[in-house]
Amino acid sequence: MTTKITWLGHSTFQLEMAGKTILIDPFFEGNPVAHSSADDVRADVIIVTHGHGDHVGDTVSIAKRTGALVISNFEIVTWLQSQGVENAHPMHIGGSHAFDFGTVKLTIAHHGSSLPDGSNGGNPTGVILKTTDGNVYFAGDTGLFSDMKLIGEEELAVAVIPVGDNFTMGPDDSIRATQFLQPRTVIPCHYNTWPLIEQNMDDWSKRIAAETSARPAVLKIGESFPL
Ligand code: NI
Ligand code: MN
Repeated sequence: MTTKITWLGHSTFQLEMAGKTILIDPFFEGNPVAHSSADDVRADVIIVTHGHGDHVGDTVSIAKRTGALVISNFEIVTWLQSQGVENAHPMHIGGSHAFDFGTVKLTIAHHGSSLPDGSNGGNPTGVILKTTDGNVYFAGDTGLFSDMKLIGEEELAVAVIPVGDNFTMGPDDSIRATQFLQPRTVIPCHYNTWPLIEQNMDDWSKRIAAETSARPAVLKIGESFPL
């Protein structure tokens, strides 16, 4: 079965894999570019990279409505449980776990992770999702770091990286990140949600094609990329 990645805007992605629907950082309510609603989006699994409101997003309401399994770092899972989320699996940086849909590994990310109410959200993470169709890396919110070379040794089919600048890597560092990660395809995120993170993705695509070995895949919101 083919794994399909759909961009839902900002850092929100939906994966269809192994007969399950996986949401990454589901941010709909208050997201000016979201086309989907937290009230009707499907989810069997939700993965949250860090505690910020534009990533935890609607995790609590979607998890309560759908019963989806929520995977995140220990501190965020503890907080989600305090919010009434019952089906949750804590992990932490460097750890892998084989779930029935694929294997999840959490990686470092250089960023913050405080939760919307000020609670401690532990350290921010990236995610490597190992599917039967290849490995997908979601960098989460992060600046550039040279250990992306180690993540690149995981033979990535796809790397999903932030490019919006200001809060995360911008275009220049995203080129260097792609050189470190060496994915077959690189998908940009965390841009054009607000004026502060506006970027020209035509320019970015040309640079990825010219300066890295990866193929750029700039998705429209709602558009899917088959692995
Ligand atoms: Ni953030
Ligand atoms: Mn963010």
